[in-house]
Amino acid sequence: MASQDTSRRSFIIKLASVSGTLATGSILSACGGGDESSNMVQFNYGVASGDPLSNKVILWTHAKYQNSNDPVALRYEVATDVAFANVVSSGVAPPAIEAASFTSKVDASGLAPATDYYYRFTSDVWISPIGRTRTLPTGTVSEVKLAVFSCSSYAHGHFHVYGEASKSDAQYALHLGDYIYEYKDGEYPSATSVVFGRNVLPANEIVTLSDYRIRHALYKSDVNLKLLHARMPMIAVWDDHEFNNDTYMTGAENHTEGAEGTFAARKAAALQAYHEWMPIRTGADKAVIYRSFDFGNLLSLHMLDTRLIGREKQLDQTEALSTLAGQQAWMSPSRQLLGTTQTQWLQNAMGTSTAKWQVLGQQVVMAATWLPISVQTKFQAYFASPNASTVGSIIAEVETYKTALKSANPATYLTAANPVVPYSFDAWDGYPAARETVLQTFAGVAASQPTIGKKLVVLSGDSHNAWHTNLTLANGTKVGEEFATSSVSSPGWEAYFPSMIPTIKSLFQDTTSKSNVQWMDASRRGYLKMTFTAAQAKGEFIFVDSVTNATYSVQTPAAAETRTYLG
Ligand SMILES: [Fe+2]
Repeated sequence: MASQDTSRRSFIIKLASVSGTLATGSILSACGGGDESSNMVQFNYGVASGDPLSNKVILWTHAKYQNSNDPVALRYEVATDVAFANVVSSGVAPPAIEAASFTSKVDASGLAPATDYYYRFTSDVWISPIGRTRTLPTGTVSEVKLAVFSCSSYAHGHFHVYGEASKSDAQYALHLGDYIYEYKDGEYPSATSVVFGRNVLPANEIVTLSDYRIRHALYKSDVNLKLLHARMPMIAVWDDHEFNNDTYMTGAENHTEGAEGTFAARKAAALQAYHEWMPIRTGADKAVIYRSFDFGNLLSLHMLDTRLIGREKQLDQTEALSTLAGQQAWMSPSRQLLGTTQTQWLQNAMGTSTAKWQVLGQQVVMAATWLPISVQTKFQAYFASPNASTVGSIIAEVETYKTALKSANPATYLTAANPVVPYSFDAWDGYPAARETVLQTFAGVAASQPTIGKKLVVLSGDSHNAWHTNLTLANGTKVGEEFATSSVSSPGWEAYFPSMIPTIKSLFQDTTSKSNVQWMDASRRGYLKMTFTAAQAKGEFIFVDSVTNATYSVQTPAAAETRTYLG
């Protein structure tokens, strides 16, 4: 069991102080290595905080005895200073036990609004790394800064994006899903594309509770992710890969019922591991994660679950376009992405909030992103046979399309046999009635409360590319704007069409017949920094130049990469 050696304790405290908020979990192992007699408590995955409110925040850690699976008794401390001279909240945290894969979460309360705090866990003489967190503001709020992330595939690259954001002036992190990926080693990415040293554990596709736990632990071992978690609180929602690809309410593309057990059992395993390993406030039902965060009178953040709780099965394009049943399902006024319970909750949340900015933090791209069949056919030809000729055909067809749109009569090109169609039926484009309901609701709320001047911003991920779009009702009326972040490391279009990036960018950005894309980026990994004031919502798209190299440089946003929605 742990030693009572006080000199060791002071040594640890000294190290912890020096390490400050950038501690990454190496403190204890650094000083315990040569002592055979001790069974030290290790905090190998650092600390994290999340789901801040104005008076409380979730604190998370993982603690395990080096040489046993005994429960680890834990206490937590929250202080206003990094030396912990002024502790304002402390107490017993749930012990780290094997049945919770040695993780522990506590809801630290009694905190003041809009305040930075330092926190740590202790077990006897052992002390965790120190984290910094922040509560939400109340009342009149002048500015809020969020760092928004999506799609972090461990094997595809280094998490430079997390490390970079941890050095930024963002106050709160938002993760919109695909925090982990479920694939086996060598599947996505292929064995030859795995970034050196970043093969996944376990090597198999994750299916069981043990698998999901091991995968979460692998991700939490990443030094840049530890830095981010130690630096600011995270508000997270899952997307599909926390379960398996293209999840919906009762199944998923990447789940084989029977051979991989039941979807219900797999979902339960993924849910348990998620709640063990993420700094999220866990309620009675682990499947319910939609929730709101109020930043005074400036901003209400409504985090949604578009993936699991209410999503009907995705249609594929052939189904949606070529069969009557598919067409009817796609266009059905009752087709669900959020489900009716969550939709009603959101309607109420947007209506009762008194904040100016109504912000939806959610997984998949909401704006219409369409392309004509004629262009899509050329892409399919490329996939069947990638060569200079098929590349040239895509580029030529996109130019023809753009020329037709600028012509006096685009209908001669966009005929009944060549309509524009969504590029993804997994995004809101596959659920048009659900999108219209949300946007109509917001329009109604804004119109009925003119003194607040409510504005809608939708934050999205999933696509691995960056977007800034207008959100319009079916009748074309603009009701808000969408800022969709690129991925932390998962590949964008540059991985598939390296020679066609300008063409893809112009395909979406310069064609406004159905799409409302103001700007997009098809080739770079990064995060989105959102700064909200009463005057504007500003989105800065911050990219790194490489995730496959161990070193990188960050790219200061060009003028076009700083996008503004005026309040
Ligand atoms: Fe993803």
